[in-house]
Amino acid sequence: MKDTISINSNNYEKKSVGPNCVLIKSLNPQQDDFAAEISFGLTRKKKFIPSKYFYDANGSRLFEEICDLDEYYLTKKELEILSAIKSEMPKYFSQHGSVVELGSGSSIKTRHLFESLLENHSHVKYYPIDISDIVQESSERLQDEFTNLHITGIIDQYEAGLQLLKNLDDKKIIVFFGSSFGNFDHIAGLKFLNSIRNCMKKDDLFLLGIDLVKDVQVLEKAYDDSKGVTKNFNLNLLARINAELGGNFNLEKFEHRAFFNAQENRIEMHLESKIQQQVYLEGVDLQIKLEKGESIRTEYSYKYTLRQIKNIASKSGFKINKIWQDEQKYFALVLFSTR
Ligand code: AVI
Repeated sequence: MKDTISINSNNYEKKSVGPNCVLIKSLNPQQDDFAAEISFGLTRKKKFIPSKYFYDANGSRLFEEICDLDEYYLTKKELEILSAIKSEMPKYFSQHGSVVELGSGSSIKTRHLFESLLENHSHVKYYPIDISDIVQESSERLQDEFTNLHITGIIDQYEAGLQLLKNLDDKKIIVFFGSSFGNFDHIAGLKFLNSIRNCMKKDDLFLLGIDLVKDVQVLEKAYDDSKGVTKNFNLNLLARINAELGGNFNLEKFEHRAFFNAQENRIEMHLESKIQQQVYLEGVDLQIKLEKGESIRTEYSYKYTLRQIKNIASKSGFKINKIWQDEQKYFALVLFSTR
């Protein structure tokens, strides 16, 4: 397998895990400072916990459960679009033999793309980028399923991983599924789009999954499901702080709140204190006081209108080649190219 990327062995470790599969792992990935960020967020006037901290082992398992819920339509709608446009894909992707996926996870959605690309190419190169070691497991599984897929899995942050792939010889499609883009606020979202654009050559493409503004009830149910899985996902943040920072949060003293903020077009998730209480985090020697009804914001999940999508495209120097939607127009897959 021809390796088109060069890595500095001081920064990355490389190992072969099969005839068509190589893994590149960062030796010094940018580390989050959990203690500092939690202490900062919980001592603000408006308390918050960064949503990236949802995903410890338990949180990741709960998120997978969320994706299977009927109320959480996002995953199903995105898959519905991917499956519906399969026959149309060659029209857009016939020259593209490389796929770069950000936050690849289990790579389930990308399978539709591989099946279509492999109709036009003898083999396809796949570069999944994820900070988690799940890349190895899912790459090994894909390798068994698609013998003509040449996989280079990158275990690192998106930005660092993308830098490695900036100068690929092949025309590439960068994909970012799942509407994780919605978890960026507008400034961070634009910064992210600019960083993607800077890693693209003239004929490269970027395929982005975005959740759309819709009926408030549908939106709110997706984030406050009847089985209480999202509630547990939200409360798990406090359990994580207890475990990792020696906290004494009593999870029963908090209410899960999820509502649509129509002015900002975003779902907000909060943990609301049921009583006036004090919490102590021994690991960072921090005492936190919460009033009855006071909330800790845990997530923003922005929803977009087609107009806003066109607007962010033009602000970040992208051209929109195509917007696909599911039948109910709940979700969009947007194909961008550089102008
Ligand atoms: C990962 N991200 C796109 C999810 C979302 O819908 O914003 C996270 C999530 N939060 C609650 N449910 C799912």
